[in-house]
Amino acid sequence: MRAMRKKRKLVENEGHVHAVDRGGRGKLHFENLPGVMRIFTFLLRVSLNKRRGEKNADNIKLEEVEIFFDDLPIGFDNTRILLITDLHIDGMDMLAERIVRIAGELDYDFCILGGDYSFEQGEKHGLAYSRMRQIAGRLVEKSRVFGVLGNHDRYRMAEVLDECGVEMLVNESVCLEKEDDKIYLAGMDDCHYYGADDIGLADSEIPDGAFKIMVCHSPEQYKQVAKAGYSLHLAGHTHGGQVCLPYGVAVVTGATVPRKFLKGKWRYRGMAGYTSRGVGTSVVRVRYFCQPEITVITLRSGK
Ligand SMILES: [Fe+2]
Repeated sequence: MRAMRKKRKLVENEGHVHAVDRGGRGKLHFENLPGVMRIFTFLLRVSLNKRRGEKNADNIKLEEVEIFFDDLPIGFDNTRILLITDLHIDGMDMLAERIVRIAGELDYDFCILGGDYSFEQGEKHGLAYSRMRQIAGRLVEKSRVFGVLGNHDRYRMAEVLDECGVEMLVNESVCLEKEDDKIYLAGMDDCHYYGADDIGLADSEIPDGAFKIMVCHSPEQYKQVAKAGYSLHLAGHTHGGQVCLPYGVAVVTGATVPRKFLKGKWRYRGMAGYTSRGVGTSVVRVRYFCQPEITVITLRSGK
């Protein structure tokens, strides 16, 4: 795991993580609208819809996704990746237990943790650290686990997960080998709030022409990632909108990307992408018309 970048350090030292309007990215986000959110929470309570929203947030869907590649090394055909992102684990009791149970019942080759492990703001991350230790400890018993940091995470979270055996990708890559084939998995630090992403560094040890997968908490750098020749971009961050209108239409997105990048499978030029709706909630512990998810992505050779 690389040392904390200077840019992240400066932002962390400012001490008010989670105001997500830094740099103009995604200003229209729950976390930038505290007054609106207080009114929204009050209205939920008086309309008795809050309990329903909380139940929705508990109801995790297992998404099984297949993505086809014509350049996937044959040894990696049918590789199954477990993607768990946006846990905000200190925001919901029993979520850690649910994640461990679901992951325990699944067959997969390796696991990726997509960032946003914390719910609480500022320095109050003790509960998030202890719950993430609980989850990571179980996941690493079953497979290799890789992780990236999100806009809610202090660098300390990367250290905690690293201590548990999670291979944290902070602007770096790993080579995965199966039979005689190799692919590369790269991870970037958060681009949304910290601006600590560095694709040049993340990509620097990957040979030309290799099949490579990028994990970045937010899909906002999709153009850069496609330009760097990645075949697959995995992301979270958007929560799919979290509080949506019927048919899953997001009211607030939290990311400056076209709507097709907000959830599910997408394509940009030659690159495939998948944005998870995430498994937890942020700001308000409710979801409407936007089910939380844990995802298994199967890589397939072919068109
Ligand atoms: Fe999140």
